[in-house]
Amino acid sequence: MAITITMGIQKGGCGKSTTTGILSHLMQEDGYRVLAVDMDSQGNLTELLSGQPANEFMGKSVLEAMQQRDIKSYIVPVNDHLDLLPANNFLATMPRWIYTGRTYQGETIPAGEKPILVLDQALEQVRDQYDFIVIDTPPSLSEQTTNALCASEYVVVMFECSNWSYSAIPNFMDSVTSANELGNRGTQVLGILRTMNDVRRSDAKAFNELIAEDYPDEVFETIITRKAPIGRLSLYGFNENTELKQALEQYRNFYKELIQRVKGE
Ligand SMILES: Nc1ncnc2c1ncn2[C@@H]1O[C@H](COP(=O)(O)OP(=O)(O)OP(=O)(O)O)[C@@H](O)[C@H]1O
Ligand SMILES: [Mg+2]
Repeated sequence: MAITITMGIQKGGCGKSTTTGILSHLMQEDGYRVLAVDMDSQGNLTELLSGQPANEFMGKSVLEAMQQRDIKSYIVPVNDHLDLLPANNFLATMPRWIYTGRTYQGETIPAGEKPILVLDQALEQVRDQYDFIVIDTPPSLSEQTTNALCASEYVVVMFECSNWSYSAIPNFMDSVTSANELGNRGTQVLGILRTMNDVRRSDAKAFNELIAEDYPDEVFETIITRKAPIGRLSLYGFNENTELKQALEQYRNFYKELIQRVKGE
């Protein structure tokens, strides 16, 4: 049975999509069967893993998969071990659909009794086919995010070492607690990942330390710094990328820590 992990924080630009993409890459490289789910209408994870514009998946995305209650037909194979449930801008219509039953195509498809569990129930169809399901979320505490949290055993909280990212953490932690209570997966924080750390800035260093003082049991030891090859993954992807080794270097340490925590070692 798959273990589901969501990358989240309602603050934008904290490395959620980059981390979800890299994590799915490292997991499949390790021989795990992985499904990456894009729950952000920006479609950044979709573009990173498929190498195609998110608009290519119009009518063929995670939104239609949930509406048709048919995940399998919407899965896009990335390679032997990695599949993708893509997203595009229409995912922004998900809240209207789950509360009114009206789809963006003008159909009426009731979302069911529990709008917050739509994704969780849909993923049930494929959980036995994967070792891990990893989910990317938008920079908001929207229905897309709460659905992802309720569908997950674990959550990695993304912390870009800055003040506004710091102030986002308490409400996000509360949302994980709510998902634990409202959902069926025992949702819990797996850890806090410090990302995009600017090593030249003293305030970033201070926030690094502050978050470790506030959440000593949660922070991962690995700190991801700002590095051009990591940023350029959005440009070059994972295939035929001559600087892939440099892009993945720090993330390999995070991956090791994550697997240890998941396996309870
Ligand atoms: N460690 C890093 N070093 C340099 N650039 C990075 C790093 N991590 C991510 N980036 C770049 O920073 C930007 C934000 O990263 P990303 O899109 O992964 O964040 P996000 O949290 O998913 O954003 P959003 O909230 O908009 O979904 C992207 O352009 C990405 O390529
Ligand atoms: Mg993103």
